[in-house]
Amino acid sequence: MLNISTYSGLIVLGGLSATLAAQEVPKQTPGSRELFVAKCTICHQEATATSQQHSEAEWAGIMQRMVENGAKMNDAEKTTILKYLTALYGPANPDGLATS
Ligand code: HEC
Repeated sequence: MLNISTYSGLIVLGGLSATLAAQEVPKQTPGSRELFVAKCTICHQEATATSQQHSEAEWAGIMQRMVENGAKMNDAEKTTILKYLTALYGPANPDGLATS
């Protein structure tokens, strides 16, 4: 059962949140997960990232810090990974989506 008051609260936040909240598994650019695994498990486990939950701005800050730590990504790769993390480990999925 959908809780209508929670749901309309999300819609007020804007179209993107509402769209994401309406989908069980947010649509991803094909290969996003593979790219994330390739770029983000060089220095630590996947779960270092996937055990966390952040807004897009927070993920962007963390990814910037990872670049400072030595992570290598071009702008397109950064955008793809940022969208992936925000969709699956962001505010639209308070319980996360344990996909692995
Ligand atoms: C070059 C090595 C390296 C790569 C590649 C790397 N990280 Fe990290 N990561 C670290 C180090 C070192 C830490 C611990 C220090 C820190 O938090 O900055 C860390 C910590 C983290 C944390 C925990 C931060 C916290 O405050 O709890 C997250 C989340 C994270 N990384 C996500 C990512 C993501 C997402 C990617 C891919 C875009 C990535 N990492 C790629 C080195 C790396």
